[in-house]
Amino acid sequence: MPGTVIAIDGPAASGKSSVSKGVAEALGYTFVSSGHFYRTLAWGILRDALPLPLQATEVDAWVPTLSLELKDSRIFLDGQDATGHLSAPEVATMVSQAAAIPSIRNLVNSNLRTLANSLDLVMEGRDIGSVVFPDTPYKFYLDASPEERARRRAREGLVDSVSERDRLDSSRATAPLIIPQGADVIDTTHLTLNEVIEVVLSHLQDVTPSRS
Ligand code: C5P
Repeated sequence: MPGTVIAIDGPAASGKSSVSKGVAEALGYTFVSSGHFYRTLAWGILRDALPLPLQATEVDAWVPTLSLELKDSRIFLDGQDATGHLSAPEVATMVSQAAAIPSIRNLVNSNLRTLANSLDLVMEGRDIGSVVFPDTPYKFYLDASPEERARRRAREGLVDSVSERDRLDSSRATAPLIIPQGADVIDTTHLTLNEVIEVVLSHLQDVTPSRS
């Protein structure tokens, strides 16, 4: 039987990762950052020196040559561990361009859906409730003011063009960032991490914690 999927979407630095990890821990579910898959492919584009600006036709030919794998919370591209590269500034700059290309999205989506065949998941991203798992009844959209999101990124010590990524992610033609139909919207601007986790869990009282 396929697993249960809890979808948590929202813009950059809205608290999705920390909240998703906390909810996954509370329920015994597996946490998955779909952004890590997109960042891994952005890293691969730099590794393989694909011509810039990216052309869909070149990327379409490159994608079928790749093998992408999540193992013990680490992510591998063609057997190389990409995990340590995912927060690099050059990856953050490349990722939204890469994520706008449909062949990249198809590759990531098929990997994400495969995970749900055997695991209960808390998955965070931009299109998890709208495109990847539109049928899950458990959808959340986290948001926070732009100022608060920029502060959170700075506190993590990350150099990141949050507003530029949001602009690209919200305006792209394929799977733009939207509030998924039926999602509970939570403004996290004035909430602590634990408060947000509690709000999410309060909407998940009919979810069965994982037995594993
Ligand atoms: O969540 P994170 O900040 O790691 O995501 C990095 C980028 O990956 C996003 O800015 C977006 O361009 C892309 N992404 C996406 N769809 C998702 C998750 C991430 O397009 N479901």
